[in-house]
Formats: sequence, C-alpha cells, structure tokens
Amino acid sequence: MTDELRFEGRVAIVTGAGNGLGRAHALLLASRGARVVVNDLGGAMTGGGRSSQAADQVVQQIIDAGGEAVADYESVEEGRRIVEHALDAFGRVDIVVNNAGILRDTSFHKMSEEDWDLIYRVHVLGSFRVTHAAWSHMRDQKYGRVVMTASAAGIYGNFGQANYSMAKLGLLGLSNTLAQEGAGKGIQVNTIAPIAGSRLTETVLPKELIDALKPEYVSPLVAWLCHESCPESGGLFEVGGGYFGKLRWQRAAGQMFRLGRTMRPEDLEKAWAAVTDFEHATYPASVTESLTPILDNINAGPSRGGNDLIDVDAALAYRFPKRTTTYDERDLSLYALGVGAAANPMDDSELQLVYELHQDGFLPLPSYGVIPAVNNFLSLAKEGVLPDGFNFGLERILHGEQRMTLMRPLPTHAKLTHEMRVKDVFDKGKHAFVDIETKSYDESGELLMVNSLIAVIRGAGGFGGSRGETGERNTPPAREPDAVVEEAVHANQALLYRLSGDWNPLHADPGFAKAMGFDRPILHGLCTMGYAVRHVVKAMVPGGDPRLVHGLEVRMSKSVFPGDTLITEMWKEGDRILFQTRVKGRDDIALSQGAVSVWEKIPEPKAAPAPKASEPAAPKAQEVTSAAVFSAIGAYIKGHPELVEKIATIYQFQLTGPDSVWTLDLKAGAVAPGETGKPDCTLRLSDADFMGMVRGEKDPQQLFMKGELKISGNIMASQKLTFLQKVDPKEVAAAAASTAPAPAAAPTVTRSPVAKQVFEALAVRLSANPALGKDLQADLRIHVQEPGATATLRMKDGRVSLAFDDAGPVQTTVSLTDEDLERLAKGEETAKSLFMHGRLKVEGAMAPAHRLSFLSNLI
Ligand code: NAI
Repeated sequence: MTDELRFEGRVAIVTGAGNGLGRAHALLLASRGARVVVNDLGGAMTGGGRSSQAADQVVQQIIDAGGEAVADYESVEEGRRIVEHALDAFGRVDIVVNNAGILRDTSFHKMSEEDWDLIYRVHVLGSFRVTHAAWSHMRDQKYGRVVMTASAAGIYGNFGQANYSMAKLGLLGLSNTLAQEGAGKGIQVNTIAPIAGSRLTETVLPKELIDALKPEYVSPLVAWLCHESCPESGGLFEVGGGYFGKLRWQRAAGQMFRLGRTMRPEDLEKAWAAVTDFEHATYPASVTESLTPILDNINAGPSRGGNDLIDVDAALAYRFPKRTTTYDERDLSLYALGVGAAANPMDDSELQLVYELHQDGFLPLPSYGVIPAVNNFLSLAKEGVLPDGFNFGLERILHGEQRMTLMRPLPTHAKLTHEMRVKDVFDKGKHAFVDIETKSYDESGELLMVNSLIAVIRGAGGFGGSRGETGERNTPPAREPDAVVEEAVHANQALLYRLSGDWNPLHADPGFAKAMGFDRPILHGLCTMGYAVRHVVKAMVPGGDPRLVHGLEVRMSKSVFPGDTLITEMWKEGDRILFQTRVKGRDDIALSQGAVSVWEKIPEPKAAPAPKASEPAAPKAQEVTSAAVFSAIGAYIKGHPELVEKIATIYQFQLTGPDSVWTLDLKAGAVAPGETGKPDCTLRLSDADFMGMVRGEKDPQQLFMKGELKISGNIMASQKLTFLQKVDPKEVAAAAASTAPAPAAAPTVTRSPVAKQVFEALAVRLSANPALGKDLQADLRIHVQEPGATATLRMKDGRVSLAFDDAGPVQTTVSLTDEDLERLAKGEETAKSLFMHGRLKVEGAMAPAHRLSFLSNLI
C-alpha cells in the first residue's frame, strides 16, 4: 500500500510492552518500520517481582517478523536509563509511549500509603522520568511524539481505584502542559484512555468482553498519534472495542456576578440552576479561553447593584426584541378622541385632529408619539417579555413619568421599528425608578422619536444604587399662569381612550378597580397627559400648530377619575411651556413638572412620507435587483422570526441570467450570497422568473409545471416559500436604493474567503438596515491580516456604506486575523476581548473600534 503510515527512521520507546496494550503498540509500530525499545520490568500485576521474559518474547516476535527491536528490563522509575538504552541501541528517540502500569485496587479506607505511593511511582513518576529524559533529545531534533496512558477511572472515578484515578488524571494534566511546551519544538503530546482485555482487567471484566476488547483495537490510535503526519496535540481520546473518540472540557455558561456586589452562599443557592446548566455551554480549550469571560466581567466594571426584586446589571444588559408597528389616521383620530379632542365638533382646529379629509389637512396630535412606544412595552409585557433582572410582578409597576422627543413632526401614518432597552435604574430609597427607553425608527431607518417611560417599582429601592437626578424638574415660576384651560373629562372617557392600546383593567373594570383600592376605574395617566398637551397646544403653541411640538415631559402625580374636570395651568419659559394639571374641586395636582418644548418653525419632514399600506409604491422593476430582493427578504425574516421555527429549511437559489447563488437559511434566519449552508431544497430558475415570483406576478407552481423552475432535494419544502410574496415591496425598494453596494456585485478583492464571506454578509445587513452602525460616527477600516483583505466603512448622512477597498484616509483602522474576524462575526468573541488580548490592533481613534457590535452574528 503506497499510502501506509510508516515509521522508517523513527525510534520508539514503549514502556510496559511485555504484555497487553504495550505489546500490541510495540508490535504495530515495529511492523510499520519503527525501531522499538520494548521496555518491561516483567513484574506482577500489583508491582512485585521482575523478569526479562515478557520483553524478550515481544522482541523475538518483532525480529521473527523482520522488524528491529531491543528488550529493556528497567522499571520506568529508571526512565533515564531506558532512554540511554534507546540512544545506545539506535542513536535517537522519536516516540515515547508511556504505557507501563500496575494496579493496587482497594477501597479508600483500606488504602495504605504504599498502595498510593507505588501507583504514583509507576504511573506518574515513571511517565515523567522517561519523558523527561527523552525531552531534551526531542527538543534538539525538533521532533517528538509522546503518548500518555490515562484511564476512564481517572476521568470519571471508579470505586476502589482512588490511587489509580489520581495518577491517571495527573497524566492528563502533564500531557496538556507538555503539548503547549512542545508546540514550538515539533513535539506533540496526547493522552489515551483505553479499554482492553488484559491481565489488568481480566479480574474485573467477564471473559467474553475481555475477548472482544482486544489490545490491537487500541494500538492504531497510538500509532496514528505517533506518526509525523498527525496534527493532533494536547488531545484526550477514549478508545477500545472499536471506538475512537476525542474528549474535551465543557463548561456551563454559568452565573456571572458583577464585581463589587456581595456574593453570598444564598446567591449561589439561587443561581444553582444557571451554574450547572449546560444548555449554553462553551468548550474552553486553553487557559486564555477559560479566562476570557472572567476578564470580560472585570472589564465590565463594578456592579450597579440590585436586590431580590431587581438586578440592575442584568436589566441594563438586556435588549428587548425589536418590534415593528404601524399607525395611520384612524389610530391618530381614535387617540385624539380618547384625549377629549373635538368634544365640540364645530371647533375647526380640533376637527383637524380627528378628520382625515379636513380641507386644511389632517394634523396628528404630537402626544400620540408616546402611544406606539408604551404599547410596545405593554404588548411585550403581556406576552411575558420582561427584561432580565426584573424579578417582580407587574402589580408593583406604576407609571411615574413620561418623556418624549420628536425628531420631526409625527407623520400621518408610519411603520415604526422600536428598539427598547432599560436605560437606567435609580434607587430612590423605598422605590426604584426604571427608565425604559424606546427609540422608534421609521421605514427608512431614520429615528423619528425617543420615549422614556419612567416606571416606579414599588418597594424595589434600597439597594444602595445611584439616586439619579434629585429635586424638581420644570418647576413652574411663582407668577400667575400665562394661560389656563379648563375642561371636563367625559364619564366614559377611559373606555374610549383604552382603545388606543392600554388594556389595563384598572381603567375599565369596576371590580378590578375596587380590588386595587379605587372606588371606580381611574383615567389613564397618559390620557390626562393627552388632555394637557392638547390644552398647551391650543393655548400656548404659536398658531395652535401641533407640528411645532418638539418634546414633552410629565410626572403622573395623582389619579383622575372620568367625570373630573381638569385645569391645565401653563407658563412660557424660553422655548418651553411649563404646565401642571389640577383636578377641579380637589386639591390634587394630577400632572406635575410638565413641560412641552417647541420648535421655532416646523422642521422639514426629512424622510419621504411613507406610502399608505393601501397604495404600495411598487418599485420600478428595472431598479430592483435580485440582490436587493434577498436583502429585503433578510430584513423580512428578521422581522418575522417565527418563520424560522415554522419553516426550518435551508433553501439555495441558483439564479441564471445574470447568474447568482443565494442561501436562504430558515434554520438560522439568515440570507447570504453564495453557498453558505447545506441546502435542504435547491431551486434553479432565471433571475427574471424569480423577480416575477417575488412580485406575485408568477406562480411558482406553474413555473415548476412548465419546467422553468427546477427543484431538487426536499421538493415539498418549496411549498413553504409562499411567504416570499409577502415581502414588503417598499423594503425591496429601500434595499435597492440603499447606498451599500449590492453584495452580488461586490468586487472580490479579498484574498481571505472568510473575510469575503463576512464582508458580503455585512453588505447584506447594511443594505437591509442602513441605519445600522450609525453609532460608528467615524470612517473605519477593517484590515484582515494573512491571507489579507480590507474593507472600509464610511459614514455619510448618518448611514454607513461599505466598500471593499483601502482607499482614502479614515479615522480608525482595526487589524485582526481572518480567524478572529470569523469569531467576531459568529459572535464567539467580542471586539473588546480581542482588543484586551492584543488580537485586535487599533490605529487612530479608539472609540469607533469599540462600536463594532454590528459585526456580531453576521455568519
Ligand atoms: P498489563 O498488565 O497487561 O501490562 C502492563 C505492563 O506494564 C506489564 O507487562 C508490566 O510488567 C509492565 N510494568 C508494570 N510496572 C512496570 C514498571 N515499573 N516498569 C516497566 N514496566 C512495568 O496491562 P494493560 O492493560 O496492558 O495496561 C497498559 C496500560 O494501560 C496501563 O498503564 C494501564 O493502567 C492502562 N489502562 C488499561 C486499561 C485496560 O482496560 N486494560 C484501562 C485503562 C488504562
């Protein structure tokens, strides 16, 4: 056989080679051309006596078969002499198989110090001495192969083998370190944990099993690990009875406590499930990998604290799932009616808030801006989606304050994507305040508004955290109000207002309200706020134009009942109108510390108004490429994660004329150019037919029947592709218009296939979501060392574009290997930890290098 693994020129020492496994190893290595030192003390199984017979017989067998070997009768404790013998006989030593072993089994309480010591000396000290004596020769010749023989008893423990288990796992530790020390010297060290029928096992295992577990079934692994072409080092393998498999360490994701927090035994008692749960396990293979999360925790800085009800660190680290919602004139009108607008249907300015056919145009009430954000929070809460670290029931939450900033006037209809997070948590003594921030982006990815819902978590304070801002905001001046508006709230107002989304029964259900300690259902705090903002717009905003409202702030101080009369008092202070709202007849200030900020002139609506859902702006066919469609499909899948669960199929599209290949991975929820996964179903069709299919103009079934669509693999899976026709044509248009280069057309100047894959996936991600990476705030170059690739991310008008070049100046250049880029893109490493370990080098401004999170989970 020409490709047989041979050992000509190699000298091997196999210890304990007179019997069992050692003999099989020696015979195999010799039969493959190695010159072998057959070492064996020839003693009893428990370590006593010695004889030359065992080694001699094996040597004879090798010589009879035409091989070369010498017998050595030393104990492995005399390792130096065994190595000298090898050098005398053959002039070198390339391979050491530490195999000699004895047993002194007895339960621990009966174990003598001699039992312990003898086992240590033969297995551990013996392996050390032989290897140590050979090590300098191996280093000098820059070549060596060492095998340690461990045992399942050491890995898993075994009754009556405390001494033996200790020794066997000790060898693994020795091997792990030698593998590292030998790495630069051409020396590879591995460990086997064999199972074989031998005199060591014949007393323990039944005969049939002993016969089946031939030592010859173990030796092929030893020979392979000792061969010059084997790349393995630092491995541990279980082997025997036909089985060969590698073992590794597995580590639970575990429980991380931020530093600076008291860590009590009770915390561990509570976190025990997390400490011991292997669901999100990692497989650290080095001390560096083992330390990385710990260093990350140290780098993350001290804990923000918490208690049984709230874990501030967990809450701040949490990201809510992104959600997209829409609203139109109907929602705006219903809301305006809900906050008492157009109570007089002849009041023309109020009619504009509720009547979309108004001759002067329809005007959204700006306070509606809080509704999509608050509804998003409420609907997630209803589904049970609450931030990590919120360990309290919803009954503890009170809506304390609301703040909103508009980037431009509310459009009359919009499709908004909400990014929500816990922005801060404050310890107000008895209670905790939680600032839940929602950034809402319109369809073009532009930020439309930022909301802050400040929730009071009753009884959750007192954890020693920061108090945050103290004192009053927006305190009204001492003078008489500049304007006052008085208005009665209709008795059924809460029932009308709740149709805008706040489902809390406290505002509708008399029984529920009673149970919560109120005589009857109370008005929503945000409904009172809607009244107040309407009053401010009417009385104080120039021309009563709601489009001039830039932002608002309010504190919900006291309850209002439907039927109460509200009195809003306002003061103009610079570009702000401060206000408070009282309840007539009671001394209650229902809304305090209120402020409405006002623009000098109505800002331009920067984003083109989104077309109404009923009249989709179909993109011009010639503008849209299949690459843009796949980008849009990617965005669509992101917005519909349920598809992954429902469809769970990897599709490959092979388009022709122009040719391109796309993988639509509905297992991972990703779309990428090229063949990025093993497809379950492959579809071959022309680019034009594909576009027709997506536009709903061509029926996939008909294409298939006519032979224009060829499907291979799981044909049934193609039936599940009907969702493609639901992909929003506007998203396709947006993707086509995006400044990011179409990934299919991206020049492949990159020499690293990994970098090419990552950058193309980044191009797809950026074209699907151009606002991504806007935090970068600088031009950044990513330089991949060997085999080499460069990409440049440039900021323009708040968007990021990607070019596969290294042209022009940038503020920051980061360099890393393509392996690390891959880890970063797979989310296995963070830029920060790469930087900490010196694997990500930064030239120029540092800050952008810390904003690379959009590279995560790309592939
Ligand atoms: P074995 O008893 O058949 O062979 C071991 C050989 O080592 C004997 O020939 C013995 O004379 C020799 N030896 C003992 N002390 C020595 C010393 N101080 N110096 C030189 N030679 C010495 O046993 P087997 O089963 O072939 O075991 C080989 C290795 O595999 C041992 O390290 C054992 O612990 C390990 N092992 C074996 C398992 C099995 O299922 N057979 C299971 C797990 C580990």
